Amino acid sequence: MATERTLSIIKPDATKRNLTGKINAKFEEAGLRIVAQKRIHLSKEQVGVFYAVHKERPFYDELCEFMASAPVVVQVLEGEGAISKNREVMGATNPADAAEGTIRAEFAESVGENSVHGSDAPETAAEEISYFFAGLELVG
Ligand code: CMP
Repeated sequence: MATERTLSIIKPDATKRNLTGKINAKFEEAGLRIVAQKRIHLSKEQVGVFYAVHKERPFYDELCEFMASAPVVVQVLEGEGAISKNREVMGATNPADAAEGTIRAEFAESVGENSVHGSDAPETAAEEISYFFAGLELVG
């Protein structure tokens, strides 16, 4: 499998509970390398652009409010098959369905406040990484 990069976001519910280190340990234990990382506080408008694909969903406004409610940690993870590996480590979107040992099973509070985001495909990974990071900030 090829080496890939994927965008990860540690969401406000997790940063508020000081879980950044515990979540990063899960990524590193799975063989993912954190090649860029920063803690930022997004505006509702900036979140809206990031999640524009969900604009028509009933939860869009709630999602934008939540993601702008406190700082997030945006990061780029690198490794073999990083996009799917990260999604395995995160677990299902709804923590009630997430497999044991996954980040969402251990830490997520609800389907909305689910601790982490991860890109779902190579095209979205490239777009999402470039939304937050310049090429010079990625240090493999
Ligand atoms: P994420 O992987 O970041 O992608 C879109 C997000 O929308 C998702 O995680 C959830 O946090 C959120 N989401 C999905 N479904 C719902 C829902 N039914 N209610 C509230 N938020 C949701």
